[in-house]
Amino acid sequence: MKLEKMDAFFTARLNGYDEHMMTEIEGAEEFYPYTASLLPSGNDVNVLDLGCGTGLELEYYFALNSVAAVVGIDVSSDMLAALKQKFSDRKIKLICGSYFDVSFEANCFDAAVSVESLHHFTAAQKLRLYEKLNTALTDNGYFVLTDYFAESEEREHFYFSELERLKSEQGLEPAAFYHYDTPLTVEHETEVLRKAGFRDVRIMRNWKATYTILARRQIPVCYIR
Ligand SMILES: C[S@@+](CC[C@H](N)C(=O)[O-])C[C@H]1O[C@@H](n2cnc3c(N)ncnc32)[C@H](O)[C@@H]1O
Repeated sequence: MKLEKMDAFFTARLNGYDEHMMTEIEGAEEFYPYTASLLPSGNDVNVLDLGCGTGLELEYYFALNSVAAVVGIDVSSDMLAALKQKFSDRKIKLICGSYFDVSFEANCFDAAVSVESLHHFTAAQKLRLYEKLNTALTDNGYFVLTDYFAESEEREHFYFSELERLKSEQGLEPAAFYHYDTPLTVEHETEVLRKAGFRDVRIMRNWKATYTILARRQIPVCYIR
């Protein structure tokens, strides 16, 4: 298996991407609308989408809340261009870049969402991202994560060691992002979210290996003198 850089992988598969996700990924017909249903309703809500791709989750969300303001981040400019075409009449700001590098404004988002994007990264990478995300949410803000997870710790370790083996065999840049699925177990994912400061981290539903997790922002403690 020849590894491809993350953005090139998705750009090469843009044609037919939406149909592939909706027909080939088990549970997609239910988990996209379910994820969208957990996002905030009402006017003046700000939502951040990490790895928004062509905006499948946003199609369902805008159907429920057409006036929401959304910031979408993705490394693939082609995926973002497809999204832009779909939602030219919506309040949406798109950022082409890695969510690990883009800085988030503090206390800004009522909710964040990520669907099928974060299963490529280590617990350490996610910890830094989730700490940054926690501070970007408003006091009552929350994060809805829908992604697929490894069925056991053994499988989790196997995926990471396979990725390292393939990278070294193919002489690839150690720090660059290549497309290869390295899901954590759902237990490890919830642990990382708690460690990053989220409270009330709950598994809401699952469709075989795909889970929706909801994690609330840790409200900073205020000391009264
Ligand atoms: C399987 S797609 C999911 C897209 C969309 N959320 C959906 O469910 O259809 C994964 C997306 O994550 C993006 N992605 C992967 N790593 C990323 C990173 N570090 N920063 C931003 N986007 C990333 C990819 O470019 C791709 O568009």
